[in-house]
Amino acid sequence: MISTDFGPNEKGSDALLALSLLFQPWRWRRGKELHNLKRRLKSKFFSLDTHISLFLTGRGALYQYLRSLNVEPGAEVLVQAFTCEAVVLPILDLGFSPIYIDIEEQDFCIDLMDLKKKYTPQSKVLILQHTFGITPKNRLKILAFAAKNGLHIIEDVAHGFDIDLFKNKRFNGAILMSFGRSKIFSSVFGGAIATRGKRVGDLMKDAERQLPNPSTWFLLQLISYKINAVIIHGLYDVYIGKIIHFLFKQFNLIVPEITKREKMGKFDSAMLKTYPNVAAIFMLEQLNRFNDVYQSRKAISNRYYYKIQPKQYSAYQNAINRFPYITKHRDSICAFAAKYNIFLGNWYTQVVAPHELDLMDVHYKNGSCPKAEKLTKLVLNLPTHISAAQAEGIIQVVHKAHEIAV
Ligand SMILES: Cc1ncc(COP(=O)(O)O)c(C=O)c1O
Repeated sequence: MISTDFGPNEKGSDALLALSLLFQPWRWRRGKELHNLKRRLKSKFFSLDTHISLFLTGRGALYQYLRSLNVEPGAEVLVQAFTCEAVVLPILDLGFSPIYIDIEEQDFCIDLMDLKKKYTPQSKVLILQHTFGITPKNRLKILAFAAKNGLHIIEDVAHGFDIDLFKNKRFNGAILMSFGRSKIFSSVFGGAIATRGKRVGDLMKDAERQLPNPSTWFLLQLISYKINAVIIHGLYDVYIGKIIHFLFKQFNLIVPEITKREKMGKFDSAMLKTYPNVAAIFMLEQLNRFNDVYQSRKAISNRYYYKIQPKQYSAYQNAINRFPYITKHRDSICAFAAKYNIFLGNWYTQVVAPHELDLMDVHYKNGSCPKAEKLTKLVLNLPTHISAAQAEGIIQVVHKAHEIAV
């Protein structure tokens, strides 16, 4: 089984670690690893004078950072279409107004011209998403525009990012990271905000301290996800994994990434909790092998780019998390691949995902971002967390499905 969504980052060593942690409940909530993770993130991706705050989710981190800004309710937050509701629900819950900016077809990130068109004096915050981990083509120009107009900047690198981008460099505003299960590294749930300067650092530290802890049941689900994912992956092709997966879902043993309340367009405070120490232990394990994972994901993206993607989309080869493949035959390719237990990704099938969400609830006006709307009908995601041989298999399956479809 290969899946972009289900446990892509989990290995046998993660499952064994999780198994041992099941019997050490005193390490679940508090412990030295929380501090160690902050240090590791700083030294690996930023600089030692960066402030890192950890939260149970990326959306919780975004919520707390937006709340810490001195911005009046009703202010506009500029955000791209082709995003996830995890980004938009905190904006709405805090009483701000999301303004959707269209994207560039070449990189799935904000279109500078549309940004300039939709900016108004009520705009106070800009969220610059690095979709699929691709650095926006016009990043520096967009940041310069934001700085000139006094916008608070949040670079959303939840999907992934070029790991040299912020290393020992100054940045404005905040960098938002996610350690959710389908990102480039995973503690199943998790998010961080990186900031510079003491004032904002202290505000975020207070925000971290004031949050409630996740429940024991939630932590049990989080820890067992790592074990279940490895067992289900290992046994899926011999059917037993499929049955176990089905049963786990039936009995609510696999905690979903997005809650029912969120799918109804409402921010869920269940996602606004402290980051548990057990998750920090998982993240440290993932970071131990991250350099190899990063290089391997990059190589797989390049392989797809050279073998199946039309060459006008050169930025796609930098897609670390998932490779966006553009095709008119998305649904038939996905269905064909599923016969081989290959489950391709669907980021995103509507301008604010997931598809269950009513776009009116997130204030999106149909037709306001035509390029994003078009791409949501054409894009499917190929996994990058796999081996070169598996990627070759996927390329063959995609070619075959394509031949059948045309
Ligand atoms: C673009 C983007 N930003 C932020 C987030 C928030 O991440 P989390 O799932 O950790 O809340 C997501 C979630 O998938 C996302 O897709």
